[in-house]
Amino acid sequence: MENFEALKAQYQEELKSVNGKEELGAFWQKYLGKTGQIQDLMKKMKDVPKEEKPEYGKKVNEVRTWAQDLYQAKADEIKLQEEEKRYKAEAIDVTIPSEAKVGNLHPITLVKQEIIEIFAGMGFEIFEGPEIEDDDHNFTRLNVLKDHPARDMQDTFWLTEDLLLRTHTSPGQIRVMDKKKPPIKVLVPGRVFRSDSDATHSPMFSQMEGLVVDKNITLCDLQGMLDEFVKNIFSSDARTRLRPSYFPFTEPSVEVDVSCFECGGKGCPLCKGTGWIEVLGGGVVNNKVLENCNIDPNEYSGIAFGIGIERITMLKYGINHMGVLFENDVNFLKQFKA
Ligand code: DAH
Repeated sequence: MENFEALKAQYQEELKSVNGKEELGAFWQKYLGKTGQIQDLMKKMKDVPKEEKPEYGKKVNEVRTWAQDLYQAKADEIKLQEEEKRYKAEAIDVTIPSEAKVGNLHPITLVKQEIIEIFAGMGFEIFEGPEIEDDDHNFTRLNVLKDHPARDMQDTFWLTEDLLLRTHTSPGQIRVMDKKKPPIKVLVPGRVFRSDSDATHSPMFSQMEGLVVDKNITLCDLQGMLDEFVKNIFSSDARTRLRPSYFPFTEPSVEVDVSCFECGGKGCPLCKGTGWIEVLGGGVVNNKVLENCNIDPNEYSGIAFGIGIERITMLKYGINHMGVLFENDVNFLKQFKA
């Protein structure tokens, strides 16, 4: 038992000189590990006379607890030192001026958000459908029947005999009416795809579908909402004009023009001298489409419209080549700050 004091003195002395995690580990092995000197004390129990065993065991336990406490304090101290070393090495001078350039949203995103905000103000909700559609949703249930010439209006990217890249956001109408019964007031934004490419067409572009179904909805509601839309997006004195047109999913169908916001209607290059600019298509939802979604056309009626987001963006910002919207030239894009 006299040896305990000597061992403790040696332990304390040696612990003082331990430096860093690795030395600490070696130190632990030497004293507290399985074959360490303090563990060894217990093994010597067998050589201790019987009457001294309890006293010896108690003493060994005391020494061990004492040693462990000292060890832990040293371990904490080393951990703190190493953390401080790391913090110093990783320190960042937050006072150095930043060179990072702040980006901005793409004009298509800006216009899309602006359109959503305008219609949200009229109580519209947002719904998004899949970009891969089936024939049923993209054509048939929208009353674009097989072999109908209207299918040629949209050059389709077919994936299989039944699946395709949606050619418009109108299938969103079907998906909404399948899920929800009237009153319905939704906007369906999304990317659409057609095999078509020139100065004003791109194989991928963006549309915003609108659908309202309720009791007594008429073409007047459509024009009222679209008047509100053009006033907000183009100019407060813009007006709309409806011209008869044809879409299989609406009856009657209309082509919607906006009064030229560049010249106020007098005639200029933008409106090609007519005072009016064509902006979107729409109409009263065809009864057949309502029936295809189990909505009774004797009880409900609806209006729908489809807005081309690139077209609105080009008109709003005076862009005459659609390509620049997809080339992602930073010098072009950085002009559009929200
Ligand atoms: N889906 C048509 C297109 O892509 C646009 C359209 C026209 C949507 C009339 C409508 C509508 O909802 O009523 O050419």
